[in-house]
Amino acid sequence: MSLFWKPGAEKPQLLDDEEGGVLFFSSALSSSSSSYGYASLEKQRQRLPVYKYRNSILYLVETHSTSIVVGETGSGKTTQIPQYLKEAGWADGGRVIACTQPRRLAVQAVASRVAEEMGVKLGDEVGYTIRFEDLTNSELTRIKFLTDGVLLREMMTDPLLSKYSVIMVDEAHERSISTDILLGLLKKIQRRRPELRLIIASATIEAKSMAAFFDTSKKRRGSDDKQHGPKTEPAILSVEGRGFNVQVFYAEEPVPDYLRAAVSTVMSIHNQEPPGDILVFLTGQDDIDAAVELLTEESQNNGKPSGGLTILPLYSGLSRADQDLVFSPTPRGKRKVVISTNIAETSLTLEGVVYVVDSGFSKQRFYNPITDVENLIVAPISKASARQRAGRAGRVRPGKCYRLYTEEYYVNELSTEGIPEIQRTSLVSSVIQLKALGIDNILGFDWPASPSPEAMIRALEVLYSLGVIDDDAKLTSPAGFQIAEIPLEPMISKMILASDELGCSEEILTIASVLSIQSIWASSRGSQKELDEAKMRFAAAEGDHVTFLNVYKGFLKCNKSPTWCHKNFVNYQAMKKVIEVRGQLRRTAQRIGINLKSCDGDTQVVRKAVTAGYFANACRLEAFSHSGMYKTLRGSQEVYIHPSSILFRVNPKWIIFHSLVSTDRQYMRNVITIDPSWLTEAAPHFYQHRQPDSFRQ
Ligand code: CDP
Ligand code: MG
Repeated sequence: MSLFWKPGAEKPQLLDDEEGGVLFFSSALSSSSSSYGYASLEKQRQRLPVYKYRNSILYLVETHSTSIVVGETGSGKTTQIPQYLKEAGWADGGRVIACTQPRRLAVQAVASRVAEEMGVKLGDEVGYTIRFEDLTNSELTRIKFLTDGVLLREMMTDPLLSKYSVIMVDEAHERSISTDILLGLLKKIQRRRPELRLIIASATIEAKSMAAFFDTSKKRRGSDDKQHGPKTEPAILSVEGRGFNVQVFYAEEPVPDYLRAAVSTVMSIHNQEPPGDILVFLTGQDDIDAAVELLTEESQNNGKPSGGLTILPLYSGLSRADQDLVFSPTPRGKRKVVISTNIAETSLTLEGVVYVVDSGFSKQRFYNPITDVENLIVAPISKASARQRAGRAGRVRPGKCYRLYTEEYYVNELSTEGIPEIQRTSLVSSVIQLKALGIDNILGFDWPASPSPEAMIRALEVLYSLGVIDDDAKLTSPAGFQIAEIPLEPMISKMILASDELGCSEEILTIASVLSIQSIWASSRGSQKELDEAKMRFAAAEGDHVTFLNVYKGFLKCNKSPTWCHKNFVNYQAMKKVIEVRGQLRRTAQRIGINLKSCDGDTQVVRKAVTAGYFANACRLEAFSHSGMYKTLRGSQEVYIHPSSILFRVNPKWIIFHSLVSTDRQYMRNVITIDPSWLTEAAPHFYQHRQPDSFRQ
């Protein structure tokens, strides 16, 4: 495929067209790329744009309860500010400095970078915590990186987060649901703990609206003057960096297949442009793995004897070794191509990138409270994201960004900003967390962006049906509290709770662990046919969940052998993770009083337990449907079994799905067969008024 490019009408400095003009490209390193990678870590630190603001930042934190730091990606906010705080004594006396990130992979990457810069072992003075992985030491850790979700969980045992002196909420512009809830709660905590300092760091925040959210001084006018301690009015600081221009090119014609277009664009950059690494933005593991494969093939057929490309994927769930490859300097004479999700948009900086290829899409969660369906959709990004992506090309010298869409499309179709996640996801998990923290008036909660009332009502209804809340919308005891304690979606937690009564907790813990991991199949290896054949060795007629049990059994039986995994197209890294997660879940289950028991192959009880959690995702095959069309019982949404499922083309009449993904259709991932009578057993309130016609056999 050959594409034709048109330079954008916007002048190369498209990135300073933000209102207020605070956002510039920061060029952290000297423009001579030869020095890149060789300067000592200390020198590199001093060259970062935030370094010049070190004292100002420390002064603001000293004198203000809340400081907002805005700075272009790569300016050093995440890796430097926690270190400055520590150097200034904020971690003295056993206190801890926290820095939150929306993404797990970013937590790991920045923590290991900071440990390296400080010359300490990761897990000692600098540590991190993500769900199911805690690399901190309660005695030693002074700087702790964690996901915002984990910090929310910490509030359940320490409501005032008393061990932290400063909490830096990073990547606030992403407006993840946990970030928003966290900001609302931190504002409450600050009222009780005025000594707690907050730093809100972001690449593009509309700083003023955030400042207004945290500005409590207006309500108590004049009180600041008399009061000792920090000012309650937030301070705003923007870190400016010298910018390298990025020239933007648009596709002349709409691109029919962004994956192929991305691959051919990389090849033409490689063949025609001077050295410099390439960063490609696609949407998720599936299309990234496919692109890596395609590009590897193309580059081998390229005719150039050296090939010269090092092709690497970047998405969450990558092993540590693969992550390290992405961050390590490109070998001389090679050109690195990193194919990434939007994690490389602002969370992580890759040095050496000069060319960006932007598909214009990312995977986003969307929830429709009317049909009660939450969906992971490949959707157009916002203009703000497109600008951020382009910005990644201007780090070491002037760069180029190739957008795989037309300029008209950019101007007319892309929204200015993204929609905060809280307005496009199911609120079930968030509501239960707030309830567990004693916040009962959820509608009256001080949200940075209000969720829709419909979504809120739906969430309460689902939680009521799950038996998590009672008639007064209070957490039930013990079930509601137990479910809140398990760090998983309430539906999975409910499944675990139900498995206790049904006597199959060992099996359900395995299923819960597998479901918490993206995929246990080595789907990027070999042909689809080989993979399908391998899957059939484990296939269970009852569906994917039971199939997972077979894979897990096989993995244990072969003594967790990597060779066995390879032979069976099972992803060894993923299985190791399953074992780790399962161990943690097992401990949590024991702590909340669940008996560990196996049902020895009785798949009916296993499926009943799944139904107890996921009854809301029940579907029935449409009568006379040869196309495999299902409809959800609630909402009558049209859905199909995903080709990756064991039950694809089998099409049993009644099934429950775990999650949905949308491409051309809505596809159900991970499905299991059920008996419809279990639904009314599991959730009488949810299904009672529908019973007569929905349950027609
Ligand atoms: O947070 P912000 O985007 O402002 O910057 P940062 O993440 O603190 O990155 C500052 C510098 O550290 C950049 O030059 C990154 O390339 C470098 N860094 C790195 O080399 N390896 C990491 N794992 C993280 C950051
Ligand atoms: Mg950062």
